Amino acid sequence: MKSTIFTGFLFCLYSSVMGQYENMIVGPTKSVNPYQYSVVKYGTFNKASVTSAHPLASMVGAEIMRQGGNAFDATIATQFALAVVYPGAGNIGGGGFTLARKKDGTLIGIDYREAAPNKASRDMYLDAAGNAQDALSQNGHLASGVPGAVAGIFATLSHAKLPFEMLIQPAIDLARYGFVITEREASSLNGTKKDFIKYSTRPSAFVKETKWKVGDTLVQVELANTLTRIQKNGAKGFYEGETAALIVDEMKRGGGIISLEDLKNYQAKTRTPIVFNYRDYSVISFAPPSSGGILIGQMLKMMEPFNVQKMGFQTPESVQLMIEVERRAYADRAAHIGDPDFYNVPQNTLLSNAYIKNRMVDYKPGVAGSSEQTVAGIAPTSEETTHFSVVDPEGNMVAVTTTLNGGYGNRTVVGGAGFILNNEMDDFSAKPGSPNMYGAIGGEANAIAPQKRMLSSMTPTLLTKNKKPYLTVGTPGGTTIPTSVFQTIVNLVDFNMSLEEAINSPKFHHQWLPDDVSIEKTFNPNTKAALEKMGYRIKERGSIGRTEGIVIGPTGKRITVADKRGDDAVAGY
Ligand code: GLY
Repeated sequence: MKSTIFTGFLFCLYSSVMGQYENMIVGPTKSVNPYQYSVVKYGTFNKASVTSAHPLASMVGAEIMRQGGNAFDATIATQFALAVVYPGAGNIGGGGFTLARKKDGTLIGIDYREAAPNKASRDMYLDAAGNAQDALSQNGHLASGVPGAVAGIFATLSHAKLPFEMLIQPAIDLARYGFVITEREASSLNGTKKDFIKYSTRPSAFVKETKWKVGDTLVQVELANTLTRIQKNGAKGFYEGETAALIVDEMKRGGGIISLEDLKNYQAKTRTPIVFNYRDYSVISFAPPSSGGILIGQMLKMMEPFNVQKMGFQTPESVQLMIEVERRAYADRAAHIGDPDFYNVPQNTLLSNAYIKNRMVDYKPGVAGSSEQTVAGIAPTSEETTHFSVVDPEGNMVAVTTTLNGGYGNRTVVGGAGFILNNEMDDFSAKPGSPNMYGAIGGEANAIAPQKRMLSSMTPTLLTKNKKPYLTVGTPGGTTIPTSVFQTIVNLVDFNMSLEEAINSPKFHHQWLPDDVSIEKTFNPNTKAALEKMGYRIKERGSIGRTEGIVIGPTGKRITVADKRGDDAVAGY
């Protein structure tokens, strides 16, 4: 599917600015035109491809590979481009996880999750009566963890081939000269205007007097200057010097606690990916502080003894099984998973065959389970995040999920630096048993402590078959992320769907608490009725996730799909 957003008229209107683009490092082919681009949902490419939340970011990544870069070069260029063209979730003020499998089979897990500042404390969001104050953990200066994205990008750089200056240049140009925005972006910027004004202490590029509309140009000069400092000084261009000073000044003006020391000391960490088998595939996913890898590991392993294919796609039988599997895994998430540098996560037990088998002994086909009775096993956001997938000509696969947490994070634009900070502190458990913005409950494992990384649901995932690269996949969606990745894998592996069908089919979600099942509007009404009869409480909600995936087909073609649910788009060659 392909839809052109911007017309020749706009192209002419902006041709004087376009003149400056003639010299951009976006590529000698000038194939990235920020004033006229299309949302392409599907592509089969011979060599390399990218699928991301924004057409320009995907095009930048593909262009970098066309110019000789590998998947890591494309990852860096795409990630910086998303920070400009997709400000609701693309970021340099947030964090995330990069998972990769190199062509020689080497696995790479880079954790650049935000960390609690040194001045953070366990009860920092509780009022005098001991109640969690969501307003403080979800918006404004106190909601932000120390950003990890730039450190994560520099940890990726050692695997790249091209000069860093070249990888960040497209983002600098997109910020400095602007790009035309989509209808969806215009509407979400308009919807966030009040919050930008309330939670920022200086004017920003995102707020203008009149309403944003499709085709307007978003120019972010302060962000371009910040990116230029990073281009010149590397990670220090963010974590030290002028950018760090601007962040700390913003903190002081707004009552935040991130210090120069917090920024200077922030480090990305390498994590050993979680690897397990599901039917004929090897699944590779992210380890704590993401809960994603353990969750999809548990859910797929609980499914394995059942003949799901025979039950049929989204029949009452298969959906009930998947809900019950989700219930058990999410109960474990709440009790057992947190930052492994602070809490002893019983990862091996949670993924062991004996434990998994025992988790399903009380599963009763045809009867709704209960979250009150399903406690954790005994073992020694708006949901804005963004995912992109990359495959290069050599067969390197990368899956990146990165986030500000809620849409536009804490809604604080760092004065003079032009980027938005995250509201990731809300992913900690502010008070045991008190739900965060995704309704997720947590306890000791995810309590706040200085420098600790908050528990995440982000699930960048790779699959191989017969030791050959097969799939790179992931999605945004807060706590719905692991269930969307889980369901996409089951759709592909058990229901033999094409990647397009697997991604675009209706999704459903259960997370133990609250004890209800959310479904997309397009979910099968007969299955819904049958589940209600079994005793499930079903709630219709807006779309679940925006899954991006690339399958490497038997002949090596990169079958690339962008979720139909957003402006997400593919690019490749
Ligand atoms: N902020 C969403 C997540 O990390 O799960």
